[in-house]
Amino acid sequence: MPPTQRTVAAVTGAARGLGAATARRLAQDGLAVAVLDLDEPAATAVADEIRTAGGDALPVAVDVADPDAVEAAIERTATELGPPTVLVSNAGITRDNLLFKMSGTDWDSVLDVHLKGAFLLARATQKYMVEAGFGRIVTLSSTSALGNRGQANYSAAKAGLQGFTKTLAIELGKFGITANSVAPGFIHTDMNRAVAKRLKVPWEEYSASLVRTIPAGRPGQPEDVANAVSFFVSEAAGFVSGQVLYVAGGPVG
Ligand code: CAA
Repeated sequence: MPPTQRTVAAVTGAARGLGAATARRLAQDGLAVAVLDLDEPAATAVADEIRTAGGDALPVAVDVADPDAVEAAIERTATELGPPTVLVSNAGITRDNLLFKMSGTDWDSVLDVHLKGAFLLARATQKYMVEAGFGRIVTLSSTSALGNRGQANYSAAKAGLQGFTKTLAIELGKFGITANSVAPGFIHTDMNRAVAKRLKVPWEEYSASLVRTIPAGRPGQPEDVANAVSFFVSEAAGFVSGQVLYVAGGPVG
C-alpha cells in the first residue's frame, strides 16, 4: 500500500510488552504503525497480527542505540509506510545491581537503549513532524525515575527521559508537536517476570507483594499504559505537552 494521508507512528520496543500493546492500540486508533524492535521475528509477528486485524503495520529491525541504524529505520518507515509524525520511544532494558557491583557496561547499555535511543529516534523523526506541522512524541519513563533500589542506571535513564521530553516540548511546541512521558508502575510484562525469575521468587508471590503497595489493588496491564499513550497521541491532546503521567494505580511522584 503506498503512503497515504494516515498518521504514521513509529513505536520502539514494539515486539512485546508495553510496546506491542501500544502498537496494537495505535493501530486500532487508525494509525499505520512501524513496529521497531531488535527482535525482527517477534516484530514481524506483531505487525502480522495488526494487519490480520485490518490495520497497517511494518516490522522494522533496529538497534535504537545505533545512530546509523535508527536513521535507516526511520527512512524506511517514511518510504514504505509514510512520514512518521508520531514517535513512541518505549525500548528499554534492565541491568539491575547495587551500585558497588554495577559494571560500566551495565550502566552504559541501560543509558544507551533508553536515553540515547530516545534522543536518536526523536532527532530522526522530528523533521517529518516539523514538515507536517504536527507531531506527537511520547517517551516511556517509569516510577523508578523517583528512585528504586538496585536500579541506579535504570532510574537515571527514566528520570533523564522526563527532562529530555520536557525540553522537546519547549523546543518543538511551535511546530505543532507535543512531547509527553508516560511513567508506568508495576505492570504485568515479560520484563517483570524476568525480574522475579532472577530473584528466584515465584511470579505469583512477587506480583502479590507489589500489588499490596498499589492503591488500585491490582497490577497494571500493558493496555493500561497503551491507553495513556493513545491519549497523548490523539488530536484532542494537542494542548497537553511536557507532562509526565504516572500510570501506577495510585498517586506517585
Ligand atoms: N559496599 C559494600 N557492600 C555493600 C554495599 C556497598 N556499597 N551496598 C550493599 N552492600 C552489601 C549488603 O550489606 C549486603 O551484604 P550482606 O548480605 O552480607 O548483608 C550485600 O551487599 C547485598 O545484598 P542484597 O541481598 O541486599 O543485594 P543483592 O546484590 O543480592 O541484590 C538488588 C539487590 C539488585 C536490589 C536485587 O534485590 C534486585 O535486583 N531487586 C529488584 C530490583 C527491581 O526492583 N527491579 C525491577 C524494577 S521494576 C522495573 O524495572 C519496571 C518499571 O519500570 C517499574
